[in-house]
Amino acid sequence: MIYPVILAGGSGTRLWPMSRSLYPKQLISLYNAHTMLQNTLLRLSGLDDLGDPVVICNENHRFMTAEQIRRIDINDFKIILEPAARNTAPAIALAALILDDNLKSEHQDDPVMLVLPADHEIKNIEAFHEIIQSGAQLARQGKLVTFGIVPSSPETGYGYIKKGDRLDNSNQAFMIDRFVEKPDYETAVSYLESGDFCWNSGMFMFKVSAVISELGAFAPDMLKKCRTAIKNGNMDLDFFRVDKAAFEAITEDSIDYAVMEKTDKGVVIPLDAGWNDLGSFDALWQTGDKDERNNVTSGDVLVHNVTDTYIHSDNRLVAAVGLEKFVIVDTKDALLVAPRDQVQDVKKIVTQLKAHN
Ligand code: GDD
Ligand code: MG
Repeated sequence: MIYPVILAGGSGTRLWPMSRSLYPKQLISLYNAHTMLQNTLLRLSGLDDLGDPVVICNENHRFMTAEQIRRIDINDFKIILEPAARNTAPAIALAALILDDNLKSEHQDDPVMLVLPADHEIKNIEAFHEIIQSGAQLARQGKLVTFGIVPSSPETGYGYIKKGDRLDNSNQAFMIDRFVEKPDYETAVSYLESGDFCWNSGMFMFKVSAVISELGAFAPDMLKKCRTAIKNGNMDLDFFRVDKAAFEAITEDSIDYAVMEKTDKGVVIPLDAGWNDLGSFDALWQTGDKDERNNVTSGDVLVHNVTDTYIHSDNRLVAAVGLEKFVIVDTKDALLVAPRDQVQDVKKIVTQLKAHN
């Protein structure tokens, strides 16, 4: 069996003011009528041998998360609640430990986890399903698999994975040399030119036992605190709430650095499936439907002599004249205006806002 584990604890700060602390990116719709979380789950439909999904999110988002899952007619799922964000490694550790406990009692034979961020668009679902099958085969052999996206531009909003040697007997998979989180532009250009790098998709496949064993080897303190957070945690309605003190004592780390870069069992399979993180307004512009002057607009928007621009209005008329490569996002209580090539810095506004509150 393959158990989807959905990471839904991010904050989506680069999409402010569309994404807010109470409505983070994974809980809003960005490219179709469904939210990013719903799309992540719906994208799996048609795969064989899938177990009930496990979703890990912040406790503040529990009701909305559960409601969104039920709305797409998925009624059997687990939600694990974190009292604070500690990045992806502790979230994955919690899911692995809880799956291990639950499935052992059902005598299930060493299941595979399919870890998926809840904030991506993937256009080619068929290619995505195929790579899950290839990933599952390698995961069943004990490998820790990640999907690396074949890069098409020097993005600075993504992490990169340097491919190592080709895996024996595989024309698809490579060993992992290293991860580099969000490089600067010049570095990203050199990575793209070298042909040795993939974008880090944040998707993983491994046996539950394999990831627990590698966490034990490379992040023993984190694993121990996660065990305590579970032991002292409790069911709250339909949610599993981990213990606040034990979880908050964990030092944050990504699974990339905590495990994938250190283990000699890590492999990367390149994926070319129209993947996008939609992490910034520039990404929404790149993937959106464009008018004849390359503008992407949504809501009540009028433009004159505007090119290469992204404009979104939630509820009132927004008009723009004589702009090039801009972003305007108007919501009920906040307005953002920025040149399109600086939108990765929108998160700095969120940092300022948090400092004021
Ligand atoms: N449960 C939980 N807890 N989920 C988390 C946490 C946490 O503390 N932190 C992040 N997540 C989830 C987010 O909801 C998202 O689905 C995913 O993990 C990645 O987090 P983001 O905050 O969206 O990270 P990013 O987009 O800036 O960067 C990551 O993803 C890129 C690809 O989308 C990195 O892994 C990059 O290297 C990568 O290229
Ligand atoms: Mg993201």
